[in-house]
Amino acid sequence: MRATAGGDNERDRSSLDAICSDVDAYYTACVARHGATPRGVDWSCEATQGLRFVQLMKLCDVSAPFSLNDIGCGYGALVPFLATRFASCEIDYLGIDLSRAMISRARRRYAGPQRRFVVAAESPRVADYSVASGIMNVNVGYAREAWEDYVRAMLARMHATSRRGFAVNFVRATDDAEPDSDPATTRLYHTIPDVWAAHCERAFAARVDVIGNYGMKEFTLLVHRTSPVRPAH
Ligand SMILES: C[S@@+](CC[C@H](N)C(=O)[O-])C[C@H]1O[C@@H](n2cnc3c(N)ncnc32)[C@H](O)[C@@H]1O
Repeated sequence: MRATAGGDNERDRSSLDAICSDVDAYYTACVARHGATPRGVDWSCEATQGLRFVQLMKLCDVSAPFSLNDIGCGYGALVPFLATRFASCEIDYLGIDLSRAMISRARRRYAGPQRRFVVAAESPRVADYSVASGIMNVNVGYAREAWEDYVRAMLARMHATSRRGFAVNFVRATDDAEPDSDPATTRLYHTIPDVWAAHCERAFAARVDVIGNYGMKEFTLLVHRTSPVRPAH
């Protein structure tokens, strides 16, 4: 069977494509309803959207130029954040989103030299770093097991296309988290840091930092690569 950069075979690939298509429908409806605003990417406000970016960007060494893949870039909100916060650092940015409606809004607002956007569910290039804010959160109606297969595949794709490492956030499971009994409805995927930190350490031989102290019911993983990227076949 043919394998992709992330290592998924054709059968896995068609399940992933089905999930991606439902995720696309969910977020495309969101942005159609609320426009290029935090609500349009299912966040409650700009302040918490930015707080997530702060955590994710702790991955990057901003003392020298670097390339960055933003997986699930939405309408491109990370771009003005980078311009404000890291104004003196040269960042070759690529925003990737499976929703065409998101990418067309992102392009209209922010496309320019070193700021490109593509419609895709994985990065077409290897960059120094990848970040993903919110792509694992909304399980669009799948059994927990199927959603976790999807999460593993997305992590593998990020690992395969990140020279130095990647960062990703999750909703943290708490005692009052909603139960996972009804897979037929869209809901938040809650989890605990240890599960995915251990997975990344084991599957990618990576060094993982967990950030969980930023005042939200979420956590961020900074996954540092310890071995070179394998060239694509
Ligand atoms: C919660 S929104 C966050 C958008 C943006 N990261 C931000 O913080 O403003 C998640 C975005 O990721 C996109 N997305 C979800 N899963 C994806 C995947 N596997 N590949 C590419 N984009 C994805 C959705 O279409 C949506 O625009």
